[in-house]
Amino acid sequence: MWIFIFFLVASHVEQSAARQCLDHAVPEGQRLNVTLDGVSVPIGIASGNWNSVELVSKIFGILVSEVVGYHVVDGLEQGSAEMIYRLSGCPPSMQSINECWKSPRRFHFALETWEDTVTAAWDATFREMGQFAPVNLGSGGYAGYDGMYILERARAESQAHTGMLLTYYSNFNATWFHPETYCAQVQHILAERVLTCSEAVNLLHPEYGQEYLDATGDLGGIEDAGNGSIRLKCWKDRWWVAPACRNNDVDVERCVAVVTSGAGWGLHFMIQQAFWHNMPLAFATAISEQYISINREFQSVLYWWTPDETFVLQKGMPLVFPPHSVSEYKAGIYASAPRRRSLFKWSAAGMDIVADRAYGLASNLNIGESDISNLLLLHAQNLQDDGATEIWDTACQWLKENTNAWKSWVPDQTVCAVGKGLVDLQGNFVMQREQAVNCGVCPPGFASQKEGATRVCSPCEPGFYQNSFRASSCTACELGSIASEPGSETCRPCSLGSFANRTGQSTCHRCGAKETESAQWTTSLEVNSGSDGSSRWIQVQGASSADYCACVQGTFLFEDRCKACTEGANCPGSNQLE
Ligand SMILES: *[C@@H]1O[C@H](CO)[C@@H](O)[C@H](O)[C@H]1NC(C)=O
Ligand SMILES: *[C@@H]1O[C@H](CO)[C@@H](O)[C@H](O)[C@H]1NC(C)=O
Ligand SMILES: *[C@@H]1O[C@H](CO)[C@@H](O)[C@H](O)[C@H]1NC(C)=O
Ligand SMILES: *[C@@H]1O[C@H](CO)[C@@H](O)[C@H](O)[C@H]1NC(C)=O
Repeated sequence: MWIFIFFLVASHVEQSAARQCLDHAVPEGQRLNVTLDGVSVPIGIASGNWNSVELVSKIFGILVSEVVGYHVVDGLEQGSAEMIYRLSGCPPSMQSINECWKSPRRFHFALETWEDTVTAAWDATFREMGQFAPVNLGSGGYAGYDGMYILERARAESQAHTGMLLTYYSNFNATWFHPETYCAQVQHILAERVLTCSEAVNLLHPEYGQEYLDATGDLGGIEDAGNGSIRLKCWKDRWWVAPACRNNDVDVERCVAVVTSGAGWGLHFMIQQAFWHNMPLAFATAISEQYISINREFQSVLYWWTPDETFVLQKGMPLVFPPHSVSEYKAGIYASAPRRRSLFKWSAAGMDIVADRAYGLASNLNIGESDISNLLLLHAQNLQDDGATEIWDTACQWLKENTNAWKSWVPDQTVCAVGKGLVDLQGNFVMQREQAVNCGVCPPGFASQKEGATRVCSPCEPGFYQNSFRASSCTACELGSIASEPGSETCRPCSLGSFANRTGQSTCHRCGAKETESAQWTTSLEVNSGSDGSSRWIQVQGASSADYCACVQGTFLFEDRCKACTEGANCPGSNQLE
């Protein structure tokens, strides 16, 4: 994808240095590792290699280590897909998904991944990953956007001379306005600073010509490619020129020059926007080293994206188009604004259990649109003042200056996750938040239950049991067994002469009508023994109904009571006199 072509840095891991940012930080010696897949490791944060994700990942890392109290390591990945793969236990630069989850996962969180990365094809990948499939924690509060932006110089000049804001597409309508007066024009940009269309857009995107023609019917914007297909028609093979300024060479030279980069990033929709809104624009793709310098020099209209820091000092603002139209875009009509893209946060599966406060912090992390631009601006200003400012320095400065922004992300110590419950200073389970200082894992016999905004470990009721840690519910005792006490870890079978004919019982029913005769009652079962088909009666514990009730050997059933066997008769315990 376009954003990642800029940087090609190999993936690597960086152990966070023992720097401290915040007062009252959890001391290094008291920080914890997380145990996932059976190994105890620091929390791994998979960052991307562009500034905004690095800044946000560092901010998160400082909070996880200094406020929540875990050891932290950073990884630097090339793009959103790599970041997400690392959370599933995939190795760097893997060739196939079969290489994943062969060793324990070492990366646990990733922030600001572009939503376009996870296309429908990933559903199958996630299914294949099964229990290792990462968890999408949603947006971090700001979105991604790409398209036409305008930088400060051109904007300010237009406003100073005409009072008009060039951030609105309608102020570019060539019938009325002359935006080119305040913007860079085609004639201002040396031909050798931009690529030809044959080596850029028409080579890499031969389909754009047909797509443009189909949408607009504008024959002046395309030409025959010579082999039966069509391509975009470029003036001097460098500039694609919108109808609003393509009358003659003089006209073209005065078009507002919009410079993009890469393989003609954004051209397919920007040329249509110019067509539909009668904007006097011409588009070219800079040779890659020139994209930044041309646009910083002229500070005019360009293709850009946010969040990104490249033009924050030039106060880049997106050109405002009519709101995004899903149906038009589906039909290939790009008159409205491009869609804003979500930027997702991810967690490795299982982190909500093994590091719930770090997980809560990642879930709560919410940086607003203006916060993210201010953060990038802060970093750009720091770099301008002192070329040595590191990402960590800016992240730390932002944290110190914006305590209110992040305080609410840090989960309260007494907001317990599923599987945990409130504990007091001594670690005893308590039912009221006022008495609690922390959360503890619910032991066997207890279930983690919702109590307002938090959870408590409540003992299983009589008749119910729980034999594992971190359970969120108790299980009813099965037929034939009971739990008489609250907080039972197991159920015990009813003893001889008693039964439990319902699940979830706290006492067993006794066989027989009269308690005093209980010694004469048992619970038994007829079993076949021997090849001759003969049977015998054996006594059983854990009887599940009154049908098992029988008089003990030597007695027989008469009028609902067990009577002593009559002399000479045989009473084998089948209730019968034989
Ligand atoms: C934490 O993880 C690191 C790296 O795996 C390891 O060297 C260290 O011993 C672990 N610390 C604890 C307390 O397990
Ligand atoms: C014409 O050439 C372009 C690029 O040179 C190519 O992409 C396209 O497929 C060709 N069209 C046909 C019909 O061969
Ligand atoms: C540009 O302005 C003219 C004159 O008011 C108007 O007729 C035309 O519809 C406008 N063009 C667009 C694309 O809005
Ligand atoms: C279980 O046994 C008791 C005592 O014999 C009887 O009252 C009750 O109806 C039985 N319940 C069921 C569900 O069979």
